[in-house]
Amino acid sequence: MAASAATPAREPLPSFPRDFLWGVSTSAHQIEGAADRRGASVWDAFTAVPGNVKDGSTAEVACDHYHRYREDVALVRDLGVDAYRFSVSWPRVLPAGAGAVDPAGLDFYDRLVDELCTAGVRPVATLFHWDTPLVLQETGGWLNRGTAERFADYTAVVAARIGDRVTKWITLNEPAEHTLLGHALGQHAPGERLLFDALPAAHHQLLAHGLAVRALRAAGAHDIGIANSHGPTWPASADPADTAAADFYDLLLNRLFADPLLLGRYPDGIAELMPGDDIDADLSVIAEPLDWYGINFYQPTKVGAPLPEGTGGEFAGVALPPELPFSPREIEGHPVTDFGWPVVPEALTELLTAFRDRYADRLPPLVITENGCSYEGLDDQERIAYLDSHLRALHRALDAGVDVRGYFVWSLIDNFEWAEGFRRRFGLVHVDHATQTRTPKASYHWLREVLRTRRP
Ligand code: BGC
Ligand code: BGC
Repeated sequence: MAASAATPAREPLPSFPRDFLWGVSTSAHQIEGAADRRGASVWDAFTAVPGNVKDGSTAEVACDHYHRYREDVALVRDLGVDAYRFSVSWPRVLPAGAGAVDPAGLDFYDRLVDELCTAGVRPVATLFHWDTPLVLQETGGWLNRGTAERFADYTAVVAARIGDRVTKWITLNEPAEHTLLGHALGQHAPGERLLFDALPAAHHQLLAHGLAVRALRAAGAHDIGIANSHGPTWPASADPADTAAADFYDLLLNRLFADPLLLGRYPDGIAELMPGDDIDADLSVIAEPLDWYGINFYQPTKVGAPLPEGTGGEFAGVALPPELPFSPREIEGHPVTDFGWPVVPEALTELLTAFRDRYADRLPPLVITENGCSYEGLDDQERIAYLDSHLRALHRALDAGVDVRGYFVWSLIDNFEWAEGFRRRFGLVHVDHATQTRTPKASYHWLREVLRTRRP
């Protein structure tokens, strides 16, 4: 394509291990559409409230992937990646979250997985990417412990149908973001603004993860992980007020989710805040051994002490309530994406080596389950620069001895970017949301070339 003519010369990427797993990621609610053929989720209800989604769009049709999955799988195949990470929509399989299975919903994933296998692409299935069945929300959603049990039942249903072909399982996507944005700050569905009272949603998601690991193992699955979002937290200054605030933020976003999974305990002071009669018993479920640990990485965060009231701290474009004991600060001196997120590849090396140092022999092999950026345009040289620099940063972690086994780009195609609607584009492939026309961007051609030349 013409786009490659404009590509600046770059040092070839260092070579990755022969069995390193290359993939692209998507999620059900963001691409499938066909909302009329599934149960409602919390995102449908959230989107229906004016003002919640910035451009007023909905995911009713999204990328119409439900009907166009063959075309999308062909794009994955032609890209030359090894694996495709998708998510299963819980309300498509169980419209009421529990009870009756919709056979047509399961059939869709069966067809998708077959199509991937025929294309020679390994299916990597995420069981939950934020689209909780609305019926379960009516009884408290993730604030209700029962939702964790329903999730294990749903997991067993999905595993029984596609488990013979799925090569890697991801229980949950980013319980940290779903807790923070969905339950603490109300920026995402289900739109709860509970601040620290959102912690039970974190505990119940972690419990659901552990119960799902057990359900998957009982169904004979063996390559099981999770996709957690992590990023280094940088204190705004060496002032003790700033370092304490940064440490607390790091606890909430990183250790609160990684420690129970990998060490079988919550960070100090947290277990007491969690619901349930027997937290130790829950922790032993949560810490079920994993075959690998997935990290979604986008950016580091700089954090300082709370700002004086009225000067406004912000997170993900939301003005934060003044009672929070920290405030995110701008990271200067780096390019930013269209989303305003700083591009700091060295933070990925830092994150990976810090994980190795903190979790040592408790850390299973790592996989980057998401990494990517939002930019406009078909000749997306900035996305190429982002992916290129993050792959080099990942390689430096390999050189430092961190065991990273794979890398998935977020995302295959432009999609419904949650509260931003269609106005943020993370795809390697452009989607015209009016006509559903897919057009590979320069970054798609670049990645295809990277993958082609790695092959002997
Ligand atoms: C982060 C730390 C974090 C730890 C646990 C590291 O990679 O850099 O800030 O505390 O992981 O998640
Ligand atoms: C989520 C994706 C989302 C991406 C970009 C991740 O937090 O898993 O669903 O589209 O970030 O915001």
